[in-house]
Amino acid sequence: MSLSIDASSQTMGMAPSTASAGRRILVVHGPNLDLLGSREPEVYGRDALGDINRRLQKWAGERGITLRLVQSNHEGVLVDAIHAALGWADGIVINPAAFTHYSYAIRDAIAAVELPTIEVHLSNIHARDEFRHTSVIAPVCRGQICGLGWRGYVLALEALEEE
Ligand code: DQA
Repeated sequence: MSLSIDASSQTMGMAPSTASAGRRILVVHGPNLDLLGSREPEVYGRDALGDINRRLQKWAGERGITLRLVQSNHEGVLVDAIHAALGWADGIVINPAAFTHYSYAIRDAIAAVELPTIEVHLSNIHARDEFRHTSVIAPVCRGQICGLGWRGYVLALEALEEE
């Protein structure tokens, strides 16, 4: 199962109010993030993915920015979503979840599309198991935000707003 939603300021009926109006950003959530809310809440918090996506849509709608929100548990679906951003998106925010630590396919897809990309993690991956300290994705990203919960996604969107 995967989820993909496009939400724009038009569909939300709000007037664009900033210089970044009209920008389009792909937000990608990787495997197991569909279980947020019930999955290890002491690590990832109690918000469901839908709650986080709603906050991101509200933030984007207020600025006239269109988001495409994708979640999948399948590497190839995430690679396809990154490819589909080419010619559509101005930037990508991605939480690759466990793929962070070993997916060269996702890393190569980000490198291939050459869109400014920011890696986000809800938890502080550097303070957890050793295998989580390595990101094979970070070298092809503008930056990495981790440990700040859902607010990390908003900070990433803010950074792309100014790209
Ligand atoms: C995560 C951290 C990853 O190590 C883990 O596999 C996840 C979630 C985070 O958002 O903190 O699934 O990306």
